[in-house]
Amino acid sequence: MTRILVTGATGSVGVHVVRALQARAATVRAFVRAPADLPGAEQAHGDFDDPASLRRALDGVDRVYLCAADGPDKVRHETAVIDAAARQGVERIVKLSALHADRASAVPAYRWHGDIEAHLRRSGVPAVLLRPAFFMTNLLMVAEGVTRTGTLYAPTAGRRVAMIDIRDVAAVAAATLLDEGHTGRAYDLTGPAAVTFTDVAAALATATGCPVRFADLTEDQARPRFEGAGLPAWLAAQLAGVFGIIRAGGFEHVSGHVEAITGRPGRDITGFARDVAASFAPAA
Ligand SMILES: NC(=O)c1ccc[n+]([C@@H]2O[C@H](COP(=O)([O-])OP(=O)(O)OC[C@H]3O[C@@H](n4cnc5c(N)ncnc54)[C@H](OP(=O)(O)O)[C@@H]3O)[C@@H](O)[C@H]2O)c1
Repeated sequence: MTRILVTGATGSVGVHVVRALQARAATVRAFVRAPADLPGAEQAHGDFDDPASLRRALDGVDRVYLCAADGPDKVRHETAVIDAAARQGVERIVKLSALHADRASAVPAYRWHGDIEAHLRRSGVPAVLLRPAFFMTNLLMVAEGVTRTGTLYAPTAGRRVAMIDIRDVAAVAAATLLDEGHTGRAYDLTGPAAVTFTDVAAALATATGCPVRFADLTEDQARPRFEGAGLPAWLAAQLAGVFGIIRAGGFEHVSGHVEAITGRPGRDITGFARDVAASFAPAA
């Protein structure tokens, strides 16, 4: 019986990875800092900064889903898991990385992912790299503002974004953890279509039944919004960097990997908007 350790199991993608694995009757152990609401999953309590807890969690584990939170500790946290997994002879790691992962990137998370990918290659543990594009769930960060103003603001220069539903990222993670033929591969993961933010606003308007317009900001108009939002400096730099890549057309490519790997088309923005409509609907 293959046992899979899911790190970041309470994270936005991780909870769906646990469910997707369970839907395929896999044996799941969730690495969690505190008791979590993950029915049916064995829970291994620990912390990426506690090597003994990682050793215990990896005992008897065959494969690992690797995901720590973004932030300055990310490289240390994920490389600790990789090193512990290598020592324990884990047979496969599926790492949640990102499109544009690059050790030389000016965008913090893309640089961290580049460093972790390089460490994973050096470790010799057979691995699969998942490099998703922009998550549709990022839109939830501005839900309150859209609800209040009826306007979606973003600096996109009218470019398209092949944004992806995190449930499809999780479905690909489960498939590449359980199925053969994926180790050594790196998959760019996108939604089924590249959409403009005008399309996103229209999808939200249809889903909520309320008007939503899109206001495309210039880089100069957007900068104070990112810098003045009370976010950590790395996150403000992350958002500015991601939208810089969007304006350069770096998220327009649509890859067919979600459908090829899971056997069904990825979720589109219309369905996503329907599923999150309550978050964007003005209070009655
Ligand atoms: N947003 C995008 O558009 C996008 C696109 C491509 C790739 N990505 C990548 O997706 C990843 C984020 O995935 P996600 O949203 O699932 O993550 P997330 O929601 O931020 O979850 C992070 C997880 O790490 C756990 N964690 C944090 N510190 C820990 C510690 N010291 N020890 C053990 N566990 C710890 C958290 O547990 P607790 O519940 O205890 O906090 C949580 O389960 C990032 O690497 C990001 O770069 C994002």
